[in-house]
Amino acid sequence: MKIAVAGTGYVGLVTGVALAHVGHNVTCVDIDEEKIKKMRKGNSPIYEEGLEDLMRKNKERLTYTTDYKKAYSDAEVIFVGVGTPERSDGSANLDYVYAVCDNIIESITKNVVVVIKSTVPIGTNDKVEEYLNSHVKKGIHISVASNPEFLAQGTAVRDTLYASRIVVGCEDDLARSVMEEVYRPFTQDPYNVPYLTMNRRSAEMVKYASNDFLALKISYINEISNFCEEIGADITEVTRGMSYDKRIGDKFLNSGIGYGGSCFPKDTKALHYLSVEKDVELKTVKACIDVNKHQKLHLFKKLKEDYGNKNLKGLNVAILGATFKPGTDDLREAPSIDNVKALLDYEVNVSIYDPVGLDRFEKIFGNSINYYDNIDDCIKDKDVVMIMTEWDTIKNYDIGKFSKLMKNPVIYDGRNCYPLSIVSQYKVEYISMGRKEVHNI
Ligand code: UDX
Repeated sequence: MKIAVAGTGYVGLVTGVALAHVGHNVTCVDIDEEKIKKMRKGNSPIYEEGLEDLMRKNKERLTYTTDYKKAYSDAEVIFVGVGTPERSDGSANLDYVYAVCDNIIESITKNVVVVIKSTVPIGTNDKVEEYLNSHVKKGIHISVASNPEFLAQGTAVRDTLYASRIVVGCEDDLARSVMEEVYRPFTQDPYNVPYLTMNRRSAEMVKYASNDFLALKISYINEISNFCEEIGADITEVTRGMSYDKRIGDKFLNSGIGYGGSCFPKDTKALHYLSVEKDVELKTVKACIDVNKHQKLHLFKKLKEDYGNKNLKGLNVAILGATFKPGTDDLREAPSIDNVKALLDYEVNVSIYDPVGLDRFEKIFGNSINYYDNIDDCIKDKDVVMIMTEWDTIKNYDIGKFSKLMKNPVIYDGRNCYPLSIVSQYKVEYISMGRKEVHNI
């Protein structure tokens, strides 16, 4: 099939490349010339394992362009995968979605199915369909289908090809049959992805309900973890004990310094906003947002308590990990940002290590901090290390080097990277999340 995809961010580009991989002819549209040039050379504008490989492998079926008119007028199906960033009041900003709609209206000459992949508030697909059909040339009909995306960054390619499920919300037969055709290859060997159809509002809700449930799981375990610190229990033992109950499972139970990224923070706030607007506030979602806000600075609070506000000035702190999680260069809502800001407020000297996120970090903090692409140099002669992201390079780091290289081997670990039984064998101070502190110096 001839498919156009609007937007070449995580959702748009990975979707486009996956659709080409299963045999469709895909044109990826973006307004950013630089990005398009890069992709034409076979380079991905985002760091995502396996993506460039697939872009190159399927280059015969992939076109990248800024010429939306041609792309949309040729297409049988147009996927919309543009961003829906959060407004200051927490609501979703749909400007990019409607900008694509205007381009579609201007371009198409025949009936088409528009698929909304961007995460949008419940009811948006209905409004988009109404908007498109009331503005498009007479005689043309546009069917809108909701098709939420469940990929996680770092595993986006696998999550798309071998998705946990494909959810499609349709209201008419054209959209239903076209979507079945688009996704048929994914429902067959070797992918065998479950394909679920429902009405559009339910499909929109599946996305928010899933993301907010996962965010809630993390906030819940973070609160339990903080409580473990107060009562002398160990969160890793507690979650191990919980995980044998199949209803709970063993996923998303890692306590830490809070969730970040492009989805959980935005989607919790957007759903909460929507519920308040409808006068049926989702109180659990509100609690989840509040807990996460505090959790991001939980480690910093411990540091402040341990050193005292006055003694932070001039302290040399090395931050290990900048990105919101390993496997991505994305810094959106990363706890490292909140912590570095807090440290700078107290005139701490900050150095940071990250394997891929430094360029983006430098755009935020400029020369107010020091940047290192290796851990040894970053921690050398420092008073304190704070771990923000559980990169393998950090998890596999030789713990003995902390006492060899640092002025004072004091480690605050926001991601529980090291087992206590191992850390206890070294001459370090080790303060982690929801576990006993180790004081060996
Ligand atoms: C998430 C969802 O997983 C995905 O299905 C959805 O489509 C988009 O949002 P992503 O934001 O890429 O994906 O990352 P994810 O791996 O889910 O992690 C999100 C955040 O939660 C990270 O900051 C991570 O550190 C944190 N997290 C995750 C925890 O703190 N503890 C956990 O146990 C798991």
